[in-house]
Amino acid sequence: LRIAILASGRGSNFAALLAARERGELPVDFVLVASDKADAPVLRLAQSAGVPTTVLDPRQYAERRAYDVALFDRIGASKPDLLVLAGFMRIIDGDALKPWAGRMINIHPSLLPKYRGLHTHRRALKAGDLEHGASVHYVTAELDGGPVIAQITFPIEADDDENTLAARLLPMEHQLLPAVVELIAAGRLALSEEGIRLDGQIL
Ligand code: GRF
Repeated sequence: LRIAILASGRGSNFAALLAARERGELPVDFVLVASDKADAPVLRLAQSAGVPTTVLDPRQYAERRAYDVALFDRIGASKPDLLVLAGFMRIIDGDALKPWAGRMINIHPSLLPKYRGLHTHRRALKAGDLEHGASVHYVTAELDGGPVIAQITFPIEADDDENTLAARLLPMEHQLLPAVVELIAAGRLALSEEGIRLDGQIL
């Protein structure tokens, strides 16, 4: 399975995928790491792992649509089977996503459908939630709104703040994302007309 990563920041989820591959758990090739930020640490990580990188600066494009066309042209050129959004902090135009339907996943730090978008930890605390978590979902035109594949959940404690929640959640994300990619790489998980199919069963 050929994988392209889209990421804007630190890249710890990409690092978790690289580590799973190192352990022999992920039969995949990372063909590209694409970023909208020239100084994103994820790019250095990719370079040190020998993964090609590309940076497209949105400020050089007048419109979102033009940016997305250029971005997905570049991504398409590396012929990936699967796109993984791992901390990609831009909204992508629906038309650009269409050709990738069922072949693009995202990891989001909330128990979707709760808290699409930003500041998920803060919003979970403010709502008085008793639990928090992360979701991996197929990407559709609706922001953080595509079919949810898998989630991890943990209890929120009375003395939690945004930082403690983020710190507890991140290592769980690093389990969840490689596990989902492993299922896709093994051909066990796919999006069909009827919904998400795992081992031949609709979830
Ligand atoms: C993660 O919390 C992920 O869920 C969110 O952005 C963060 C990315 O972290 N979408 P990293 O760049 O993978 O370290």
